[in-house]
Amino acid sequence: MHKRLRGFGLASTIIILGACTGTPVTPHVAASAVPTPSLAKAWQGQVLIGAAVDEKNIQSQGTLIADQFSSVVAENAMKPMATEPREGEFHFEAADAIVRFAQSHNMAIRGHTLLWHLHTPDWMWQGKNGQPADRDLVLARLKRHIDAEVGHYKGQVYAWDVVNEVIDEKQPDCLRNDKWHQVVGLDYVDYAFRYAHAADPAARLFINEYSTTETAKQRCLLRVIQGLQERGVPVNGIGHQMHISVFYPRVEDIDQTLTAFARLGLENQITEIDMSLYKWKDNHLYDTRDNLLALQARRYGDIMRMIHNHPDVTAATWWGVTDAGTWLNQDAPADHNDQPLLFDAQGQPKGAFWAVFKAARR
Ligand code: XIL
Repeated sequence: MHKRLRGFGLASTIIILGACTGTPVTPHVAASAVPTPSLAKAWQGQVLIGAAVDEKNIQSQGTLIADQFSSVVAENAMKPMATEPREGEFHFEAADAIVRFAQSHNMAIRGHTLLWHLHTPDWMWQGKNGQPADRDLVLARLKRHIDAEVGHYKGQVYAWDVVNEVIDEKQPDCLRNDKWHQVVGLDYVDYAFRYAHAADPAARLFINEYSTTETAKQRCLLRVIQGLQERGVPVNGIGHQMHISVFYPRVEDIDQTLTAFARLGLENQITEIDMSLYKWKDNHLYDTRDNLLALQARRYGDIMRMIHNHPDVTAATWWGVTDAGTWLNQDAPADHNDQPLLFDAQGQPKGAFWAVFKAARR
């Protein structure tokens, strides 16, 4: 213990000891007396520690973000409806502000996302004279969108979620039965990756998906990726969203999932992690808030320790900075108060933070 702490300043030692012995670290004491140690620094050389941010919180929480994270992703600003709301009319101002912020703090930048059924603007499907757009027109539009966006951030965004949530395990071909599939056909995923690679050959290209630990979904994703690989489509990795709960999935299942994809020679990234105190779309708290937060800290620690066995995992990105900004409280009942992130609503480190901090190799 003492050996491992050698080299740390006295201030951080006090905090670490507090955290190790389970003594609750009073946020105000931690905030005023000693600075919170940096998560990004603790994990440096191991895993990039990321946060989803927006144009506002890079201003209001800029210091916290820059101190604690080594990577950012735009929570919404790089999605297709935001960057090309009307055909050929590109808006990169909000995303540019995030990129400038990241660059001024030497942070890595992930890009999210180039194609997502929930965020495709309607103009994509409209053809001439009120007719629906056909395959060729949609592919030409997709190419133009990807060329413009990936081209704009060439050399700056190191990894793209090229396609988001395309898997549907209930379909015979494992792909979601959406407009992309209906209008273009099975190979729209291939085209998206090929266009992205052409626009920035150095960018690492990811297929991003939720619930990758679930057996049927995982089997389908593996099958789709093997198809991409057989056809020589440039896919580098899997983005595991990991919108999880204090109740599921089991850490062993996450471990097994990462192994299954690493076996295909792919890089794994955790792209949108948060850990809800609730079950999905359920407004009931099954224990006291304190117990649930303690469970959350324990599970975050277990997950991050497990990641040491996975050189295939290169980044873990939290889907938000503080509990005040979590998307899990958007469109939720008024009394729904989820706290899935590492910092509380006041921006103070939670038990979850200390667990992830302590899980880093030192
Ligand atoms: C969410 C954002 O957090 C919200 O602010 C927005 O209203 C909807 O999208 N999976 C994804 C993310 O890939 O892009 C989603 O982000 C959360 C689920």
